[in-house]
Amino acid sequence: MTTAPLRFGVIGVGVIGRQHVQRLLSYPGDAALVAIADMSADAARAVAGEYGTTAAESVDDLLARDDIDAVVIAIPSGLHADMAVAALDAGKHVLLEKPIDVTVDAADRIIAAEERSGKVLTVVSQRRFAPENSFLHSAIRSGDFGRITSANIEIALWRSQEYYDSGSWRGTWKLDGGGALMNQGVHMVDLILWLLGDVEEVHAYGGLLAHERIEVEDTIAITARFASGAVLTFLASTASYGDFPIRVAVMGDAGAAVTLDERFSHFRLESGADLPDFEPVDVGLAGLDDFVNAVRGGRSPLITSREARAAVAFIEAAYESMRTGQPVTPR
Ligand SMILES: NC(=O)c1ccc[n+]([C@@H]2O[C@H](COP(=O)([O-])OP(=O)(O)OC[C@H]3O[C@@H](n4cnc5c(N)ncnc54)[C@H](O)[C@@H]3O)[C@@H](O)[C@H]2O)c1
Repeated sequence: MTTAPLRFGVIGVGVIGRQHVQRLLSYPGDAALVAIADMSADAARAVAGEYGTTAAESVDDLLARDDIDAVVIAIPSGLHADMAVAALDAGKHVLLEKPIDVTVDAADRIIAAEERSGKVLTVVSQRRFAPENSFLHSAIRSGDFGRITSANIEIALWRSQEYYDSGSWRGTWKLDGGGALMNQGVHMVDLILWLLGDVEEVHAYGGLLAHERIEVEDTIAITARFASGAVLTFLASTASYGDFPIRVAVMGDAGAAVTLDERFSHFRLESGADLPDFEPVDVGLAGLDDFVNAVRGGRSPLITSREARAAVAFIEAAYESMRTGQPVTPR
């Protein structure tokens, strides 16, 4: 038996939206790209011409089409909730770029719309699909590391001034929602919450140290305590020339592991068990597969709206702490 493909639209065809267009056009599974739209109709037409697909006249026209079942939303972060709510209310399933939006209140509006629509929504968090991270997740869950005592994340990247100057929304509180932590670091916030669970308290120092003409932080150092009692240190920076490998370390009383750009550099278990072999995975494609299968199978996607909300709650708490100097409990 063959099923009709899940019919997609893409909203927002900038840097990342174009990648979604390409991925959908070459998708080997049962999904198809039907049309794209952008606030700039010219941009939509240009991208449609380049890739051989169809541009809708406007986002409203795209959302009104009944030959589209699902949309990818890839517009500036602070506009995610308005667009996701409109799409859900128009009866579309939603694959939403990260972060879910830039505030917990906006995330809550999405969750309410998701619940009333009965549609599937997921938020992109592609690092979870790396096999090394899936392995870490299972190993922690099955107790291989014993009691987890601490973790450390370092995402010390370099973003040039030209990067921030490349779009008027970049580096603004309203539309980017923050800097190194909200834009780049959110991937690692999501990952560590997925690995180690809820966070009870967050304390942060940060600031704008090496860029101009932006409002947000380019460097932030955070300490936090998980509900389990484990402690976390977390550095996020876009002011670290040289783009260091992203470091994830998880320490327990029966094992510890460190990954650098998702490759294990240290792995030691009291049990003596060793690492399996990891086959490379196209994490973007795996995320699309997960979403398509969630819609098809009527199951939750790997990254739920509530989990994506928790990442933003952690970040909001870090920013409040950065401003007030006080520890903050995420909402
Ligand atoms: N998953 C990842 O690794 C990853 C990487 C980069 C960006 N992103 C996310 O993707 C989103 C877009 O980032 P980008 O770098 O592609 O930005 P971009 O500025 O390159 O593109 C944004 C596009 O959205 C369009 N747009 C703006 N407002 C709109 C509206 N109201 N309706 C329709 N179209 C609108 C713009 O015209 C532009 O074409 C952000 O939320 C960002 O956080 C995710």
